[in-house]
Order: sequence, then structure tokens, then C-alpha cells
Amino acid sequence: MARRRLVAGNWKMNGDLAALAELDGIAAAAAAAPGLDVAIAVPATLIMAAAARTAGLAIGAEDVHPAEKGAHTGCISVGMVRDAGGRFSIVGHSERRADCHETDAEVRAKAEALHRGGLSAILCVGETLAERDAGQAVQVVTGQLAASLPGGAAAGWLSIAYEPVWAIGTGRTPTVGDVAAMHGAIREELRALVGNEAERIRILYGGSVTGDNAAELLGAGDVDGALVGGASLTAAKFVPIIEAAA
Ligand code: G3P
Repeated sequence: MARRRLVAGNWKMNGDLAALAELDGIAAAAAAAPGLDVAIAVPATLIMAAAARTAGLAIGAEDVHPAEKGAHTGCISVGMVRDAGGRFSIVGHSERRADCHETDAEVRAKAEALHRGGLSAILCVGETLAERDAGQAVQVVTGQLAASLPGGAAAGWLSIAYEPVWAIGTGRTPTVGDVAAMHGAIREELRALVGNEAERIRILYGGSVTGDNAAELLGAGDVDGALVGGASLTAAKFVPIIEAAA
């Protein structure tokens, strides 16, 4: 089944109001690629200004709290993201799983909150180098997926991002064969979990994607797009990835 590709950026803890000028070139490239979805997750401080600046780009958050409101100092809710003009959020990024000790159950709750609130989710999974070296990569990743997949998971609002932890920000990437094998395993696990809907859910690859390697990585089996960190921070680096995916 042909799935529409999604190229998403993740600015992480980078960017300020001046940096939003980069979105202009990115939005222009997205407009020139009508067969592709392009999205950027930005720090919470920038969601409103980014969304106002770029109607054609989906702007989202990097994380949300699963509760609607309340005593959760420092957190933002799905409703707040929506109110600011955001249309989606990343959940379960390995940096949050590691730095904030997020569990699969919490990631699942966040994704479900996004769906309840009418926003989309990009749910991240990925193994560490130690887990890969121990031959446990597929088991770890499919285990994370099974435990964090939200109820009612459907392609209309959910994408999965496979991000091997050891490839994030390191300049190292798995071989195309390894990417295809893992994406195939994720697809298979999705089939077991959600049946035919698995054929429609997009599986993105993330981890040191650049303009130089995007075409090759996107060409791997079951890869339906990319989640891009460092190379999404400037139009000069992100636009070639959009063009490779278009
Ligand atoms: O979420 C995207 C990310 O973790 C990949 O980062 O800098 O390796 O593209 P990077």
C-alpha cells in the first residue's frame, strides 16, 4: 500500500524567535512538494509564533503531559498546544525516556491524550547500542511499541518513528538493510496489534538523517519518512531532505 511520506523536524532544545526565519525556506520547499507531509516540532516557547508564521507547515510540540490541566509545574497539555496552533506532538523520544525516565505507559497515555484532544502523535521507539550489540534490538523495539502503542491507534493521527539511540546526533546510521529489517519488524508487530490498519500507519526513520543520506534511507523497505534533528534546524540542511523525500 502506498503511504504518503512524512518528513518531520525536531528542534529539541534549540531555536529562538530569530531562528523562525528558517521556517520560511522550509515552508516554501514543503509547498513545492504537495505529495509530501512536512512538519516541525519546536520548543513550547515557539509553537505559537511558528504556527502563525507558517500556515502551510504543521507545527507541533516535542512533548505533552497526558492530563488536561492541573498541578504539573513546567508541563504543557494537549489543549495548550492546540490553543497555540500546534497540530501534533512527538511522544516517547529517547531523550525524554532517558532524561525524564518516561515509561512506555506514560508514552501511551500521552499519545492517547493527543488523540482525545484532536492532535496527531509521532511515537518514538529505538534501541541503545548495548541492546543492539546484545542482539536484542528487534525485541526491545517491538516491546516498546507494544507497550506504548495507544488504544485505537490509526494512521489518521499516529506515526511511529524508529530512532536507534546510538544513531541520534552521532553521524552514524544503521545500514539500509538494518533499517529495512527493523521497519519490517515494526510493521509486523503493528499487524499483530492493529490488524490491517498496520498497512496505513507511517513508520519514520530518525537518527543522523542528512541531505546526503536521506534518499538512501528513505528508499529502504517500510520507511515512510524521516524524523530529523540537527539537520532540521536550518532551511539549508532541511530542504535537501524534503527534496529527497518528495
Ligand atoms: O528526533 C530526531 C532525532 O532524535 C534525530 O536527531 O540530530 O540525529 O537527526 P539527529
